[in-house]
Amino acid sequence: MSAFKFLMRYIRRHKWQYIFGIITLFVVDYANLFIPELTGDVTDGLADRTMDMQGVFSVLTKILLLGLTLAIGRFLWRIFLFGAARTIEREIRDDMFEHLEGMSVEYYNSHKTGDLMTRFTSDLNSVRMSIGPAIISIFDATVMAVMVIAQMMVYVNVRLTLMVLVPMSVIMVGEIYYGKIMHGKYKKRQEAVSDLTDFVQESFSGIRVVKAFVRERQQLKEFLKTNQNAMDKNLDIVRWQAVVNPLLTVIIGSSSLITLIYGGYLALVGDITLGRFVAFNQYVGMLVWPMIACGDAINMFSQGFASAKRIEEVFSSRPEITDSENPAPVHELKGEIKFDDLTFIHKGSSEPTIRDLTLEVPAGTTLAIIGRTGNGKSTLVNLLLHLYNVRRGMIYLDGTDINDVPLNVLRENIAYVPQDNFLFSDTLASNIAFGTHEKSMERIVEASRAACIHDNIIEFPEGYETVVGERGVTLSGGQKQRSSIARALIKDAPILILDDALSAVDTDTEEHILTNLRKNREGKTTIIIAHRVSTIKDADVIMVLEDGSAAEVGNHRELMEKNGVYAEMFRSQQLEAAVGEKKAALERRILSVGKEDAGV
Ligand SMILES: Nc1ncnc2c1ncn2[C@@H]1O[C@H](COP(=O)(O)OP(=O)(O)OP(=O)(O)O)[C@@H](O)[C@H]1O
Ligand SMILES: [Mg+2]
Repeated sequence: MSAFKFLMRYIRRHKWQYIFGIITLFVVDYANLFIPELTGDVTDGLADRTMDMQGVFSVLTKILLLGLTLAIGRFLWRIFLFGAARTIEREIRDDMFEHLEGMSVEYYNSHKTGDLMTRFTSDLNSVRMSIGPAIISIFDATVMAVMVIAQMMVYVNVRLTLMVLVPMSVIMVGEIYYGKIMHGKYKKRQEAVSDLTDFVQESFSGIRVVKAFVRERQQLKEFLKTNQNAMDKNLDIVRWQAVVNPLLTVIIGSSSLITLIYGGYLALVGDITLGRFVAFNQYVGMLVWPMIACGDAINMFSQGFASAKRIEEVFSSRPEITDSENPAPVHELKGEIKFDDLTFIHKGSSEPTIRDLTLEVPAGTTLAIIGRTGNGKSTLVNLLLHLYNVRRGMIYLDGTDINDVPLNVLRENIAYVPQDNFLFSDTLASNIAFGTHEKSMERIVEASRAACIHDNIIEFPEGYETVVGERGVTLSGGQKQRSSIARALIKDAPILILDDALSAVDTDTEEHILTNLRKNREGKTTIIIAHRVSTIKDADVIMVLEDGSAAEVGNHRELMEKNGVYAEMFRSQQLEAAVGEKKAALERRILSVGKEDAGV
């Protein structure tokens, strides 16, 4: 779809507002025309003494009434036309947000956040300018120019008008070229601004890394370069504007000169009256604005279309994952999961991340997944959430192919603690209740207790009303993790997935949370991904993932008997723990001996 068609779809919805707006604009322009005529009449009347004070007053009353009409008219067209443009801006923004929410994770992997934000802000702004102020300018300017020119010809003199119009038409032609050149320049500027926003956003989100690696200077250098680039693009535009604006004044000046010379001559020889000469001068003045407005409008249009194209691009990208054409009539999942020879290759990857994985997880059981980093554990649960495309016949939920399970049903029935847990800049209570409709304090506290975060929360000065994230307090890694667990637990879904969600808590707390989980998740499917054997050894089924396939499957006892990868992992981790404990005990002893020596 072209940018024009895209915009027309929205404009059509508000066509009456546009029609009424433009009609009012027309009325205002028409009324405007009479003022020079009336002042001309007064001048003539006073010059040849045919008008007395009463006459002057009656003309003044007319001018006042006209002024009132103009004021009301201007108010109305502003309301109609600016109102329509603002409404359309809101509608496009709403639609764009909704559309983007529907896009799959892969879309966000390949599109920068800063770039998307630019489309929401400056691009939409340019679009609004083109469907509001620019439309007003174009209509206003053309209507006004045509009327003024007609008036000049009829009321004053055709030849004089034509002579004045020569330089004026140069402005029009010049501006069409100017608009074309500017179109390219605005596009370049838009890209430069996008780059700048991206850079700033990334630098500040990653400020900890920047500081830890002492890269402030390098980042600053990069920033200066990006900022310079944005300025260059802006300056390029300013330079063109700087050349064009004085040029405009020169051309306008020459029109005035023609009026003075030829118009003055006509007045001298008596072809036109003095009043008409005065009126003509005013008309020339009135023509200047439409010419400039036309130029502005052309610029606004070219910017607006460039931006509309970028916005339309967002709308034309289709979500890769959608409900199937014949979704299965499921509303609630029991929690039975089956992987059938599942193989999955990430986009842009040559090797499969998951290969030939077959496993059945009966409803109500706890599955633990353990394996070395990068072995595809997170990918596997992302597939279960249908965040990536899965070929048919590879994943079944309650016996239904995952492709046939409606997406909202699937995701409502799965509670998920992502590995890179994320909290919104909002209160803890809202963060925890994020995924549920029932936001009672009781439930929030219950879930927080189960996730062992309640005691931490009540210690904050504002308790559950404490705002976290960029606008509030900074939580520790473990606190963030446990808040995310609470957020998942409150959902009480048939399937719960914890992706490495206990990595940042100490073993005691871990034990506590696991005990709560066993109680909470009785009869419901739970998937726990972990690196520590201690986290998962009580699971009903443990799967050791190696290179994307199930190397070993069984419970703790079975896998220990097998004496394979799992048993080895268990022993080495136990050894590590034992060594760790010994070391700690030794340190304590050294410390106490030291104290005794010092006579403490
Ligand atoms: N969106 C993606 N596009 C391409 N490759 C990806 C993508 N996400 C993950 N990968 C690759 O897939 C492999 C498995 O990643 P995954 O995140 O599933 O590992 P993991 O087992 O969860 O690791 P960890 O224990 O460190 O969390 C990695 O090699 C990773 O580089
Ligand atoms: Mg992972």
